[in-house]
Order: sequence, then C-alpha cells, then structure tokens
Amino acid sequence: MQPTPSADVQYLSGFANEFASEALPGSLPQGCNSPQRAPYGLYAEQLSGTAFTMPRHEQRRSWLYRLRPSALHPRFERLARQPLAEAAGEITPNRLRWNPQPLPAEPTDFIDGWSPMAATAAPEAPSGVSVYLYAANQSMQRAFYDADGELLVVPEMGRLRIVTELGVLQLEPLEIAVIPRGMKFRVELPDGEARGYLAENHGAALRIPDLGPIGSNGLANPRDFLAPVAHYEDTTGPVQLVQKFLGQFWGCELNHSPLDVVAWHGNNVPYKYDLRTFNTLGTVSYDHPDPSIFTVLTSPSSVPGMANMDFVIFPPRWMVAENTFRPPWFHRNLMNEFMGLIAGAYDAKAEGFLPGGVSLHPCMSAHGPDAETCEKAIAAELAPHKIDGTMAFMFETSQVLRPSRQAMRSPQLQTDYDRCWASLATTFDPQGAKP
Ligand SMILES: [Fe+2]
Repeated sequence: MQPTPSADVQYLSGFANEFASEALPGSLPQGCNSPQRAPYGLYAEQLSGTAFTMPRHEQRRSWLYRLRPSALHPRFERLARQPLAEAAGEITPNRLRWNPQPLPAEPTDFIDGWSPMAATAAPEAPSGVSVYLYAANQSMQRAFYDADGELLVVPEMGRLRIVTELGVLQLEPLEIAVIPRGMKFRVELPDGEARGYLAENHGAALRIPDLGPIGSNGLANPRDFLAPVAHYEDTTGPVQLVQKFLGQFWGCELNHSPLDVVAWHGNNVPYKYDLRTFNTLGTVSYDHPDPSIFTVLTSPSSVPGMANMDFVIFPPRWMVAENTFRPPWFHRNLMNEFMGLIAGAYDAKAEGFLPGGVSLHPCMSAHGPDAETCEKAIAAELAPHKIDGTMAFMFETSQVLRPSRQAMRSPQLQTDYDRCWASLATTFDPQGAKP
C-alpha cells in the first residue's frame, strides 16, 4: 500500500495507470525513483516492458526496490534439458483437434511441463504468439523468467500459487494470470498437480479492448483485475534461475532467492482476472454477433482493429435470439483460432472436444458446429435457453499458427476430426417452403 501524503488526499493512481505496494512501512521511496539511498538499504531497479520512448499510454514499466539487484548473477549456461527444442512449426491448412494430454508420470515442475503446440513465428519475432500446454506434478524449486514474451496462464486443472517478484497470485481454474515479459516467478502446486494452457505473447502487451458504442462499462471491467501486494523472500542457499531466451532454456545458480522485492510501483505488473466476472454481452433481438463481443484481452498489431492476439472466452450466457441459428455459425476467417476448453461442454460441438483438449482452425479453414449440433439447432424451439457450466476460450491471432512437430506426432491428435462435419446432409429443396 502506497502511503498517502496526508490524511485528506490520496494518490490519483488511475490517472497515470500507476500502482504501488510495500511490504515494509516506508520501504517505497517517495518522489525520486532512484534515490541516492533507498529505504532499508534496498537497491532500486527498473523493469521496462516497453521501449523508453513509447507514447505514455503505451508505457509499461515498474520500479522495484529489492535486497539485491538482478544483475547479481553468474553466467547463464544452456540447459541440457530443452523441452521446447521441437517448437518449430509445420505447415498445414488442416483443421486439427487434440484430446487432453495426460498428466506426467515422472516428477515434472511447471517449466519442465511445457508442451509446444503452435507458434506464429520464430521466438525472436517482435510480434506473434506461441502456444503451449502445461502439465506438472511438482512445485518449482527454482525461479524462471521468459525473455521471449508476456505469459498468459489459463489453468484447466489444479490451482497454481504463482510467486512473482511483485507478490503472490493464487490462481484456480476459471481464473487467468498474465506475467510480464522478464518478470521472475515460481509456480507452486497446492493440489499436487496442474494442467492448462499458455499463450506467450511476443507483441504488444495485452490490455482490455476499447468498447466503442458499448460504452464505458461491460465485457471485462477494469476493477476486476487484481495485482499482487509486495512480498519478499530474504533467504540464502542455492536456487537455480532459468530463463527462456529465443526458445531455449538457460540457467544459472544463485545463492539467494531472486524474489526479494520489498516495495514496487509502476504498471508493468503481473495480474489475475476471474473469468466468472466477465460481463457477457450479446443480442437481445436476432442474429449472432461476431465472437469479438467476447474479447477479454487484446494485444493490438500495427494495423488498427486487427489483433496480434485476442483472448476470447465463451462463458455461461442466455441465448434469446429470435429466428436465429444460435450456435456459432459456419465461417471462414482471416484470423487463426487456437481453442481450448476449461470446463463443461462447448456449444458448437456435441462430442470430441473435452476439457483440456485443443482445436486449431487456421486462416480461411472452414468450420462451425458439427453435424449433430447443427441438426439440433435447426430443429430447436427458440425459447430462452441458458448455456451453463461451461468455459471455452480462444487465442486468436492474425498470423498463421503452425502446429509444432511434437503436437503433430502426439497420440492425442485426433485423426478423424474432419468427420464431425461429414454427415452434414444437403437439405436444399427447390420446391420446398419459403420462410
Ligand atoms: Fe471459428
């Protein structure tokens, strides 16, 4: 909590998109970011998520006040174990779907448990997204940071306790977390095992989308995003620090915890969001809006309105549209759609898409509801109907996602996905009734 300058005023933190927290009273310097002597003998360090000269509203940076500067580390060596060495993508225009991956049989922590699924570009590209699944059964005993991008964590099974430099985020399925590029963290597993999805965003930082004519409220509301409070570890002893750099893991040995930030301020911070607080909007008359109405977070590209990456959810909601085919319509799309399921069933598929599963629909691939869902939707009585107990999501990107070789060789890859549309019968009758 940032101390207030006097009893009758408080800092207008929202004006500058600025947040602050201190674990010890008075540990956050006032006024100067880098004072000659920081309180309690702390070191000041800036963590920049954007170039210094970005427009102010695009700036992401935080000041960290810590026991030791991050510079205090020995040389990084390339780790022998490189679980992402096969991340290079294959080219396929095909629609793909995978069953949920099994939990690991061997002891596996959060970063050893990454499986590359698809990527738009090599990790050094300044935009695009890489997508992974994670599955782990051991809490991390080491710390990690990702130099290649911002991480969006989407748990599907098991809680995560994410101990970051700026504090602790407790995360459970139906919540998400975003960890800035370069921020050090450790993931503990309160339930002993965990599984979920990761988007590594190489482009502009995720933010809530503009609302246009929707107005000043709706979709993901700003007040529902939570940042941690300062929390530091004053411990010595060997700790491995691992970084992901251009797709490879590198490690060094520290003799202290690198999670030793006592106070901080800024806006380059980790945060969490409960998907159940999403204010879902939709039609109350007829037709089915574009799924962009379900966007939680977006990473813009240099082309206005075309996202580098959108994070979109399909939450519980009422369906009330009249004279309307209610499932997601058949479509072909410029964007590339990586889809996952956190809970329940997805309303466009009768079977085959399970919690923990994945589908990938590349640019211009034709898709939509399967034959069974389509037949039911055409025959349905259109009374108000609630889709409940479900949460599907999409990482959608304007660049083509190439599935990894590992994903294409995975036993979870369904070989008959196309068949879910194969029985769509022709119902055309030139003599038939007009609507
Ligand atoms: Fe789609």
